[in-house]
Amino acid sequence: GPKSSPPERLPFTRVTKEDLDFFRSILPGRTITDPDLLESSNVDWLKSVRGSSEVLLRPQTTAEVSQILRYCNSRNLAVNPQGGNTGLVGGSVPVYDEIILSTALMNKVLSFDHVSGIVTCQAGCVLESLSQYLEERDYIMPLDLGAKGSCHIGGNVATNAGGLRLLRYGSLRGTVLGLEVVFADGRVLDCLATLRKDNTGYDLKQLFIGSEGTLGVITAVSVLCPRKPKSVNVVFLGCGTFENLLKTFQLCRGMLGEILSAFEFLDSECMRLLNTHLKLSNPISDCPFYIVIETAGSDPNHDSEKLHNFLDEAMNAALVTDGTVATEESKIKALWSMRERVTEALTHDGFTYKYDISLPVELIYRLVLDMRQHLGDRARSVVGYGHVGDGNLHLNITSPAKDPALLAAIEPFVYEWTAQRRGSISAEHGLGLKKRNYIYYSKSSQAVTLMGDIKHMLDPKGILNPYKTLPDHLT
Ligand code: FAD
Ligand code: MLT
Ligand code: ZN
Repeated sequence: GPKSSPPERLPFTRVTKEDLDFFRSILPGRTITDPDLLESSNVDWLKSVRGSSEVLLRPQTTAEVSQILRYCNSRNLAVNPQGGNTGLVGGSVPVYDEIILSTALMNKVLSFDHVSGIVTCQAGCVLESLSQYLEERDYIMPLDLGAKGSCHIGGNVATNAGGLRLLRYGSLRGTVLGLEVVFADGRVLDCLATLRKDNTGYDLKQLFIGSEGTLGVITAVSVLCPRKPKSVNVVFLGCGTFENLLKTFQLCRGMLGEILSAFEFLDSECMRLLNTHLKLSNPISDCPFYIVIETAGSDPNHDSEKLHNFLDEAMNAALVTDGTVATEESKIKALWSMRERVTEALTHDGFTYKYDISLPVELIYRLVLDMRQHLGDRARSVVGYGHVGDGNLHLNITSPAKDPALLAAIEPFVYEWTAQRRGSISAEHGLGLKKRNYIYYSKSSQAVTLMGDIKHMLDPKGILNPYKTLPDHLT
């Protein structure tokens, strides 16, 4: 079967003293070779993959990124673009000695249009900082995710991150209006439009959204932002069965309509991990399933009336068994952390095998049940949570340590299960290093061949993020 272990090191040049001299000449003080400083850039957020890069470059401008890539391409040096290093599929860190090109110092907002709500910024802006910048101007970012404090907008675009608000504001494929990208050979592609509509030929920016650093380095982004809602409510509900959770979702869409901004879930196993590892206590009584619903609207009275009508109906129909509502900022945050911090709780439970699956929504929990049955007592925890509104399940399986026998029991079972139902084996995290060879479970061979052709056209020497996204025979 397909492998997740990396292929042999490809014959890229090794960094020499002369190369370092060149980098220091164009990036004085921003060419990092101190092993202690490099350590955190060589290891991924999950601490599951580790590279051995000896150089970290911190450009501040597009021109510097262009100079770096032109040089690396001519020297046949491999490059790993890196944002906040919160990626979950091993795509953000080097596999061998690839040069790390970090966007950490490319963190300037370039412009903001108060009328349209379009922000244009450098790729290294931290998502949470951008959100703050916009909130001060009565707007918000159209995406939100648990990693907001560290992830960069460029990394979000490179992975096409989904997150907690996709149900309301759609994916980055719709809200990103323009991109600036530097190709492997240093040429700069200016697609930094700020127009809602532009049908002048192919929509080239889409190629780079979700390309995980394999086709170019994203240096700037323009994003269409929604107005800051005047009223936000969060509800935390308990459900006895997944069937009732789905019925609650349907009722909610009908009754909350345009003010619904998130519909997320976690199961009781997630709650157990939040309790045990993070000392977060359940805000309601114990239930098999929990729902987080958020509303965002322009009229507090209107929103609260709609919300309470919905809650009455859901309670009367016995779809939900318990619940609590938050309108105040600190309680909203506390309720959201029950959902957002599941990822962190899992890291304390042991080695985590993560699956990010897209399916018709009525099937998403069946995979968790089938996996539990399939694994029996071979796993420590088998948990399900995710973005119900988007048909996106996060299935996570932990064990005391890395366990090849357990992995062999999980894969390819999980991928076959998904492919049989025409689901996606990566809904929002990308393929990176870990999932690259499983691409055929979700894409036809014609589609994968075309990906290889595009990669070859834009990066003929294959220096950009090697061993990632494309299956081994195409890197
Ligand atoms: P990195 O991790 O640094 O990089 C990710 C990939 O993008 C790599 O392949 C890298 O080479 C490439 N890349 C980075 N910057 C650039 C650039 N400027 N140009 C070209 N390529 C680049 N994801 C979701 O979709 N939804 C979620 O709800 C969600 N929640 C998360 C919660 C937590 C706690 C964590 C740790 C992760 C979560 N993620 C989620 C994963 C998600 O992919 C990242 O958080 C985020 O999108 C990655 O941004 P980053 O800046 O950290 O990128
Ligand atoms: C989430 O939705 O919490 C993120 O995608 C992170 C994860 O899958 O753990
Ligand atoms: Zn997610």
